[in-house]
Amino acid sequence: MKICRTKADVRETVREWKRDDAHVGVVTTMGYLHEGHLGLVRLAREKADRVVATIFVNPTQFGPGEDLDTYPRDEEHDLELLEAEGVDALFLPSVEEMYGAAGDTHVEVPGLSGVLQGALRPGHFRGVSTVVTKLFHIVTPDFAVFGEKDYQQLTLIRQMVRDLDMPLEIIGHPTVREADGLAMSSRNVRLTAEHRQEAVALSRSLARAEELARSSPQIADLEVAVRAELASAPSSEIKSADIRDAETLEELSGTLDRPAVILLAVLFGDVLLIDQRVVAPAS
Ligand code: PAF
Repeated sequence: MKICRTKADVRETVREWKRDDAHVGVVTTMGYLHEGHLGLVRLAREKADRVVATIFVNPTQFGPGEDLDTYPRDEEHDLELLEAEGVDALFLPSVEEMYGAAGDTHVEVPGLSGVLQGALRPGHFRGVSTVVTKLFHIVTPDFAVFGEKDYQQLTLIRQMVRDLDMPLEIIGHPTVREADGLAMSSRNVRLTAEHRQEAVALSRSLARAEELARSSPQIADLEVAVRAELASAPSSEIKSADIRDAETLEELSGTLDRPAVILLAVLFGDVLLIDQRVVAPAS
């Protein structure tokens, strides 16, 4: 696996592959890799001749008081994992390399970046869409794989790519889970043992909603069921529990008559966990 620490290096590497008509996929990450990321890498590996992974803890998507300083990092282990998955090149820039010469240009998807998680974390999605645009321009992949776990991020990136005619395909990968259902996340290691046990309430509440959804209930009933299941975890603090149109993330009301996504953000201690599931009525 080739390690590229500069934009010029990764650009030249991909340019050479493309001279041989290679189909190139990218998996963008913030490191501290786990099975969730490796699932994205494996899917990219299946579809591409060459795979680039990126690791960059992007400061512009963290707000003041968020966990930028304590965000877990383990470069050596990440390299081993990516090497074992057959990744061809890893782009590992410093903050200086990514933003050193940058002015104040940014990319924003206004409709999607200010709602849901975006309303809780002002500026977060602007940071994401800007850095993802930069990474796409630097790596020039034919496709990129993103996890469905970050559903709003995936929806926003799809829209950005459509709106700005970016010449690549965006592929979603289903959420990878621990054996008990907890969605894999780099933040899980920061949960106390007690919170780790309670955190299963997220996937349990989503499973309950999926079951209920089959009988086309009222959206409000689904929300009550999800919140009741989450409340069974005594330490949980629900930051948001939303049921939205699965494609547009628009608000829904009345009877569930189309696929909807349930989006959860729940705090355990100081660890914010998110999870999601698309549910649909039986017919
Ligand atoms: O999902 C993430 O890890 C980050 O938001 C991303 C897409 C790598 C941008 O920094």
